[in-house]
Amino acid sequence: MKLDEALGIPLRSVDREIENMVKYDKDLPRSSALAKSIIDLVRSGGKRVRPLMVIVGSRFGPAPDENKLWRLAAAAEFIHAASLIHDDIIDDSPVRRGQKALHIKLGVSEAVHVGNYMSARVIELISAYSAERERYAYDLSSLATTELCLGEYEQLSHLFDYEVSVEEYLEKSRKKTAQLMAACLRIGAQSAGADDEVAELLYAFGEKLGMAFQIRDDILDFTQSAEKLGKPAGSDLRKGQVTLPVLFALEDEELAPSIRAIAAETPAELTDAVIAAIGRSGALERSESLSARYLDEAQAIIHRLRDYPAHRDLQALLQYFGGRES
Ligand code: FPP
Ligand code: MG
Repeated sequence: MKLDEALGIPLRSVDREIENMVKYDKDLPRSSALAKSIIDLVRSGGKRVRPLMVIVGSRFGPAPDENKLWRLAAAAEFIHAASLIHDDIIDDSPVRRGQKALHIKLGVSEAVHVGNYMSARVIELISAYSAERERYAYDLSSLATTELCLGEYEQLSHLFDYEVSVEEYLEKSRKKTAQLMAACLRIGAQSAGADDEVAELLYAFGEKLGMAFQIRDDILDFTQSAEKLGKPAGSDLRKGQVTLPVLFALEDEELAPSIRAIAAETPAELTDAVIAAIGRSGALERSESLSARYLDEAQAIIHRLRDYPAHRDLQALLQYFGGRES
């Protein structure tokens, strides 16, 4: 069963709300190139995992405010989509979701503007909602976006750096991926007036899922076909990203020198041979078991929330992250 069906959330409604962010934007004529680019982008696909997480979070509170909730869900997708526009520029990645990346379609300058505008709109929306609140401000824009940028910057400043520690890799993954998922669950819960403790447990759950997801994603870069990945297999390492499987493989003294020799100018055949050797080294299995450990920790959090009927939705999320192929 698809995630949206398992959660009983119509994906059409999520998509409509995301498009409404553009359609009802008072500063953006619907016929403008900017509006059209954003609409095309959101129609180009995506599983809407983050909006779904916002809605699941709200099911842990006594008083969901439907209007706000759906806008927050749409805002979560906006932040994610904006970050991917920038990510594809930084990674020099020409393809996203099986189509040309936005900077290939529009040029880098135009694509940067689209990403900036989308993030700015979200910050504005959330500041307006935060101003109405007494207890605590929402953090989807300030905290989540800042950490996204920091995570990306850490990654960029450690390209081809084989001295990175596993802890540093995990911290970068938390900032780049896990904390946005965590923030989505928490903001949904906060918008519905959930207890602080519950909101924090949901944050921790989202963080564990996000960590498991990022590690899986980094493993898939070694194991999946180029066709499935939408980019050449092994491209992370080719581009200098020292991910968890590489860090584990570096512990193999025989293999380490050939990994360390990979630099930006290394011929593809050499890198391909090292990528294949990493695949045979046991590093992927070790990475998989760390990912599984995060999923176990997420399961333990579900247990603590078992008195809430919505704990079943967390189980559906866990199943999706634990069992899915990509
Ligand atoms: C995908 O990583 C990218 C991210 C998880 C975050 C990117 C964040 C930024 C570029 C900061 C800017 C943020 C905003 C809101 C403007 P990946 O390259 O590992 O995954 P991929 O294979 O999907 O490209
Ligand atoms: Mg990328």
